[in-house]
Amino acid sequence: MTAPEASASRRRAAVLISGRGSNLAALIDACARPDAAAEIALVISNRPDAAGIAHARAAGVAAEIIDHRRFGARDLFERSLNAVLEAHEIDLVCLAGFMRVLSSWFTERWRDRLLNIHPSLLPAFPGLDTHRRALGAGVRFSGCTVHFVRAEVDAGPIIVQGVVAVRPDDTPETLAARVLEAEHRCYPLALALVASGRAWVQDGKVVLEGASAPSGLWINPLPD
Ligand code: GRF
Repeated sequence: MTAPEASASRRRAAVLISGRGSNLAALIDACARPDAAAEIALVISNRPDAAGIAHARAAGVAAEIIDHRRFGARDLFERSLNAVLEAHEIDLVCLAGFMRVLSSWFTERWRDRLLNIHPSLLPAFPGLDTHRRALGAGVRFSGCTVHFVRAEVDAGPIIVQGVVAVRPDDTPETLAARVLEAEHRCYPLALALVASGRAWVQDGKVVLEGASAPSGLWINPLPD
């Protein structure tokens, strides 16, 4: 069978992981569609024991381990990362549970071609322990954000957000599980928008073309 014509112009995406890799799996599934604007061409893990590597292998995607502990300094690790991405002719990089902070050398090199997903409605709750902090603040809604990466942690122009309602009996674990479902829908959407040229950065914000916003009002708790 010949490959669909669209594949010739697909953007080559790499996914960087450190652990479970459920967002990686969602991206691989979405990009397996014949009309996908991106293909997952490479997976890189900085941890040799990352469970997510199995998703890459099962899907026949090239997987590389670049163990940050082998490098004496951050810049050497990042230069190695960059060299592997370039060797695989990668166009777009998706951070998906990648637990290394990247320097401005790297984020500028990949400016507007580097995406991240964070499990909160940024700019609220950047950093770690997100769900516990969201519950501690008593917010009624939480969610996830896919954004272009800048040197500041969990900051940068927002591409897609997904919202979930917080329930009175939520624990960090139950909230995380619901947000994760949102993540698995938002990340493939964001990658598709960027890879197809329908999302780009202008004046520090993402402009979307041919994408419509939902209508409606969400109130939590539901009014009587
Ligand atoms: C996700 O919650 C993501 O938002 C955060 O790290 C987690 C990674 O999960 N950055 P997985 O490895 O994709 O399952």
